[in-house]
Amino acid sequence: MEPIFLIGFMGAGKTTVGIALSEKVNLPVIDADKYLEEKQGKKVNEIFEECGEEFFRDLETEVLKELSRKENTIITTGGGVVGKRENCELLKESGTVIYLSCLFDSLWERLKQDQTRPLVSQNNKKQLHELFQGRASLYESCSDIIINTEKKQVEQVIEDILVLFSDTKA
Ligand code: S3P
Repeated sequence: MEPIFLIGFMGAGKTTVGIALSEKVNLPVIDADKYLEEKQGKKVNEIFEECGEEFFRDLETEVLKELSRKENTIITTGGGVVGKRENCELLKESGTVIYLSCLFDSLWERLKQDQTRPLVSQNNKKQLHELFQGRASLYESCSDIIINTEKKQVEQVIEDILVLFSDTKA
């Protein structure tokens, strides 16, 4: 089976849902950012700080190319992966893409105290909202399945994914 990608804005729960889904369906999960960090021996925020965002984006594309060849695997992606058309095309042609959608205010509640994400520390609420609005249509056009995660427990999100996933395969 082709890989399953989870996409969505920062704070949408991709990592948490990825792990829970992996346990539910008994498939391995790879977090693309963690994979990138291990390869580079540096944290994402260190890469942003020392080499800039563009350098990080090139690494992100490289990692995506590598991971998109994995079979029977769940891949959780960074929120900015849809920023490059090349990445979107790769996602669409390589596997099933699941977009975890959420309202900006809910994301902001989770993100506002975050110290680990460079784009959260570099931007205020208004700037992040603009980033969110700019990306929303990209997430939608990249995805095969859209899951509204608003006010849902992880278990419910997994249920919704499984129902819609089996529909796409029917
Ligand atoms: C980013 C999201 C982050 C990480 C990097 C950039 C973004 O991943 O890739 O900080 O541009 O939205 P998460 O979505 O897992 O936080």
